[in-house]
Amino acid sequence: MNVDLPVLAPSILAADFSRLGEQIDICMESGIQWIHCDIMDGHFVPNISYGPAIVSTVRDIAPDAFLDVHLMIENPDQYVEDFADAGADLISVHYEACPHLHSTIQNIRQNGCMTGVVINPATSVELLRPILPDVDLVLIMSVNPGFGGQAFIESSIKKVQQLYQIKQEEDLNFLIEIDGGIGPDNIEKLASAGTDVFVAGSSVFKASDIPARIDELTRKAQAGHALIG
Ligand code: DX5
Ligand code: ZN
Repeated sequence: MNVDLPVLAPSILAADFSRLGEQIDICMESGIQWIHCDIMDGHFVPNISYGPAIVSTVRDIAPDAFLDVHLMIENPDQYVEDFADAGADLISVHYEACPHLHSTIQNIRQNGCMTGVVINPATSVELLRPILPDVDLVLIMSVNPGFGGQAFIESSIKKVQQLYQIKQEEDLNFLIEIDGGIGPDNIEKLASAGTDVFVAGSSVFKASDIPARIDELTRKAQAGHALIG
């Protein structure tokens, strides 16, 4: 993957949907390369967000953005093709939602997308070992999925450290992403623990000055990432 690390991936879940185009444009003009799309079905998680039509709209608004699609849905295999057609570059599925995870990951790749696996706060990093060689990205949830604006769960830092250690030991190349409660107070520490990609919803879109917040988060992520080379 040709990507400049670390990556800040704003989640449009926290955007003002009446001004979605304008807010995505602000992100892109501020140097953002990834946009994070949160798909919720009201079953796997208690909330409903949006589907492929909005992902397709984001693709139209930002043709050059890398679209990072996070599926918080049951039966993700049923919808992989729809999200790939909508313009997803990478599709992540939850370990907890996939009884045949290896097959689902193959399905994502066959649809031309990069692959990601996600774990909830109560799921151990160790459970991912068998799938790690087959994924491009591992997403560690640092809140219980379903809603933006929740408090960061501190024990997630240890999970990033564990995953980073496994990645080094096994000489693997997947990216480590974190999602939930990320902001100026924790991003540097998470970067120094081995995180490559930072999802940020509220801390970007609820900021009074979005470009300034993007700049602040990016600089802090870079400072932390520099510590681990
Ligand atoms: C939570 C979603 C997150 C969410 C992050 O289920 O996966 O991507 O939008 O929002 P903040 O950054 O507000 O915690
Ligand atoms: Zn997400």
